[in-house]
Amino acid sequence: MADRTDEVRGEKVVVRFEAKRCIHSRNCVLGQPAVFVPNSPGGWIHPDAAPVEAITALVETCPSGALSYQRLDGGKEEQAPVVNTVRVRENGPLAFHADLRLEGSAPAFRATLCRCGASKNKPFCDNAHARMGFTATGEPAVQDSPALTQRGGELKVSPLPDGPLFVSGNVEIVSGTGHTVLRTRKVALCRCGGSKNKPFCDGTHAQNGFQSDS
Ligand code: SF4
Ligand code: FES
Repeated sequence: MADRTDEVRGEKVVVRFEAKRCIHSRNCVLGQPAVFVPNSPGGWIHPDAAPVEAITALVETCPSGALSYQRLDGGKEEQAPVVNTVRVRENGPLAFHADLRLEGSAPAFRATLCRCGASKNKPFCDNAHARMGFTATGEPAVQDSPALTQRGGELKVSPLPDGPLFVSGNVEIVSGTGHTVLRTRKVALCRCGGSKNKPFCDGTHAQNGFQSDS
């Protein structure tokens, strides 16, 4: 994936696209087809082609955080979510929506991180899971966990060398259908693809030769 950033200034909003984060979910091109036009001569983002509120609402649903915006009209900027979440995607990545402090990246509210172990763009997902036939449930067993006293705030994510994603801060792990799997303030999430207890790390990375820089 090209390490490219597009920044397109419209009358009321600047839309940014960070290519290395994009998981090609096509949420943007399907949700606002007049604004996000692939292979369009002169650029693929057209920030004046829809009402600004419609564009910002769409950008906020970009799961990977590849899209972000800055208002030029004094309108409200994107806010951190009230509840930090990690959604477990069936046979796919971990989708974070939080006041994210991902080590090595600028603060952001959204990111999809590899959990199959095969991305060439770690810690980000690059759709390698689909190419390699990764299978992992999106409905892990629900664990009893008490309600958190705080549900938002900064969420630190440290991709450990040759090991899991170490997550600290208030977070709720949510299944594909929306069940709360675990509420916690500290958790290690598997990113080698080998854990028998996905999405959690069970130490398998130490046996299967997982290399986080491969
Ligand atoms: S990840 Fe974001 S930028 Fe990439 S295709 Fe999906 S919505 Fe568009
Ligand atoms: S990262 Fe997969 S088991 Fe630890």
